[in-house]
Amino acid sequence: MGNIRTIGVLTSGGDAPGMNAAIRAVVRAGIYYGYKVMGIKRGFTGLVSGDMEELTLRAVSGIIQHGGTMLKTSRCPEFKTKEGIFKGVSMCKIFGIDVVVVIGGDGSFRGALDLSKAGIPVIGIPATIDNDVGCTDYTIGFDTALNTVSDALDKIKDTGYSHERVSVLEVMGRKAGHIAINTGIAGGAEVILIPEETPDYEKDVIRPILEGRNRGKTDFNVIVAEGVDISVPELSRMIEESTGITTRYTILGYIQRGGIPTVNDRVMASRMGVKAVKDIREGKLNRVIAYKNGKVVDFDIEEALKQTKSVDEEMIELERILSL
Ligand code: ADP
Ligand code: F6P
Repeated sequence: MGNIRTIGVLTSGGDAPGMNAAIRAVVRAGIYYGYKVMGIKRGFTGLVSGDMEELTLRAVSGIIQHGGTMLKTSRCPEFKTKEGIFKGVSMCKIFGIDVVVVIGGDGSFRGALDLSKAGIPVIGIPATIDNDVGCTDYTIGFDTALNTVSDALDKIKDTGYSHERVSVLEVMGRKAGHIAINTGIAGGAEVILIPEETPDYEKDVIRPILEGRNRGKTDFNVIVAEGVDISVPELSRMIEESTGITTRYTILGYIQRGGIPTVNDRVMASRMGVKAVKDIREGKLNRVIAYKNGKVVDFDIEEALKQTKSVDEEMIELERILSL
């Protein structure tokens, strides 16, 4: 155990279903291995202001099946300043926190890295519905969000089919198209637009719809990640004007961030939470937990933040082949 006696745990950035399961795993594994665990409220905001309390085994009872995060989350601009980091370090000293487990996305890990450089060791657990953390194949919350989107898309398809329309669906992903490409493939979308690729609207949107119509298709689904450089009302207008097919759009929004975490998210969060505590126990600090090639592993946090991940070429090809 070395000199570490107390683990702090926080959730930061956009919430993701499964964050509660990760908190529970850190608390239960922490106590199992003899640590005291402090829950820090509202991400780095609570670290800076010293808003935290001890979490017992029972404090995390009955949360594994709930979306959101019992610790709350926030974006904390102050933590991007030297003063903010200094206050965070001071609070760790005041409350006797020896290591902070940060559950969040790569923005949160940048904050964690700054904290580690100021002398407080950290461990990162990747949790964001966007699945856009470079070092890991999977981030907690992704599977639940995919299922939420897929359910919505199936419903939208029913009405689009009945009215013989084009349905445009905007999904989350300001920087990444993982949600769009996976749900588009799962829902048999004709067109998928992702921020990683600059679309040629005539070739990538209008032509496939017109060619599909000429082959006998009567309804079409277009999935757009929010980071694509066109608004969905604008895109829908363009499609309707160019194809003559009535087009309706839906912006799914925050429904994608909530809901009961899937089994996959609960299990992944449990595995990653326990791995974080095991790393602490083994003196492996300043690491990010990751899921790579079917295994839960860890990377040095600085190296983890340098890694990038793009949408798999195979998925893009799949979409081209199957959307005919
Ligand atoms: P996510 O963790 O989901 O990517 P954000 O990018 O919003 O979410 O980051 C969450 C929080 O992490 C920010 O509000 C801020 O407190 C902290 N953070 C983000 N980037 C940095 C940075 N470069 N330096 C220090 N802290 C950062
Ligand atoms: O959680 C990820 C995400 O949903 C991104 O897709 C989106 O860009 C962002 O969070 C929006 O979150 P907020 O409105 O809370 O800043």
